[in-house]
Amino acid sequence: MALKKKLFIKTYGCQMNVYDSDRMADVLAPLGYEPTDQPDGADMVILNTCHIREKASEKVYSELGRIRHLQNEKASGGGRMVVAVAGCVAQAEGAEIMMRAPHVDMVFGPQTYHQLPEMVTRAVRGAGGVVNTDFPVESKFDLLPEESAKPQGPAAFLSVQEGCDKFCTFCVVPYTRGSEYSRPVGQVLNEARRLVSHGVREITLLGQNVNAFHGEAADGSVWGLGRLIRALAEIDGLERIRYTTSHPRDMDDDLIDAHGTVPQLMPFLHLPVQSGSDRILAAMNRKHTGDDYRRLIDRLRTRQPDLALSSDFITGFPGETDQDFADTLRLINDIGFAQAYSFKYSARPGTPAAGLEGRQVDEKVKDERLQAVQQLLNAQQVAFNQTMIGRTLSVLFDRVGKLEGQLLGRSAYMQSVYVQAPARLMGQMVDVHVTGAFANSLSGHVVTGETVTQAAPAVEAHA
Ligand code: 5AD
Ligand code: SF4
Repeated sequence: MALKKKLFIKTYGCQMNVYDSDRMADVLAPLGYEPTDQPDGADMVILNTCHIREKASEKVYSELGRIRHLQNEKASGGGRMVVAVAGCVAQAEGAEIMMRAPHVDMVFGPQTYHQLPEMVTRAVRGAGGVVNTDFPVESKFDLLPEESAKPQGPAAFLSVQEGCDKFCTFCVVPYTRGSEYSRPVGQVLNEARRLVSHGVREITLLGQNVNAFHGEAADGSVWGLGRLIRALAEIDGLERIRYTTSHPRDMDDDLIDAHGTVPQLMPFLHLPVQSGSDRILAAMNRKHTGDDYRRLIDRLRTRQPDLALSSDFITGFPGETDQDFADTLRLINDIGFAQAYSFKYSARPGTPAAGLEGRQVDEKVKDERLQAVQQLLNAQQVAFNQTMIGRTLSVLFDRVGKLEGQLLGRSAYMQSVYVQAPARLMGQMVDVHVTGAFANSLSGHVVTGETVTQAAPAVEAHA
């Protein structure tokens, strides 16, 4: 038995990083590392970073400053705290991180964490730090421990695809995560069965470009995401399936059809469009127009009229005019989103759009447009949430709320729903009668299998 050591992982950015952090913990478990939720006194601290927008990497450096004090404290007591930077900032900046923060022991990219045991040994023994930003020929997924730590809670992530070959001109992902890779079908199904055997009822399939999934099946055939979803839907006990993030170009007929025919596939889709202007979409290398997106949504809604939509928007992409921006607002009005994320364009070093000298939009204009887009999207979100009042929704409770006796869960449409309910309903799928609708959540009371409980107080929960 290895000596017990404490491992603290801080995760930034997307859900793929959340998944990766859990897998890092799995890889380190045989070495005696046990997760802790405090960095103080930890034997290893890993910052699993995100590089998608500007401030993310600055946050990492300031966090590294704080960690240095904890590392010194531990050293003064005769201990050793190994500090690592993982994820996309590690991939993009590599050895530069060690230069700016010499107390860092390991810097490694998202494709190398199956090599962690070896890296840890090198870092602990050697004098210098370990930098590993390779794209190894072997896939980490083939080498990760199969029977890993138990999932926590009834909803789990499952990475099925990684990397991206789309090269949108604003985006670092194709450089930090590498080219597109799909896990073999058998591996995905096994992992899903294992999750369900541990009580998971909802699985979100993850990938930077998840609907580009093209995994090889045992008979050598190649499956798309639609076919994978149908196979997953046959697993007994798996009640909900979601997938994120998708590209409009990869919504094929089979996947669209799955939205109308697979009851476990939730009526919620995050489908980034980024802009409503054809000129800007072309400059972004998105390979679709605003009308292509509208037509696609029409086809999806024909198959699944109950579909709630989410998207990503960027304001102030280089060269964006008032007219381009007006086209974005028009598209938002045409589609109607249940929720969405919007960001100010930030020039990422090494991406084509960052080099568009003289075309960068003024910061103030970017801000104004962001505010306008958020105002419209928020109004749509509130309106969507209000349509839920009086409805009974199926909710999977996966968290406790801030108030005593409060449980929180997700509706099929990804809304956070909170109720006053007995703790034993945690992890259960329960019908909730909705009585309150807010910007970011719903409230109500449990209606099935229970004597009716009190409605939650009408204040918004911050999930
Ligand atoms: N600037 C602003 N937003 C960006 N995103 C990706 N790269 C940038 C960038 N350079 C946004 C996109 C993407 C989401 C994950 O982050 O909207 O869909
Ligand atoms: Fe980045 Fe998504 Fe475009 Fe790929 S499809 S380059 S991940 S924005």
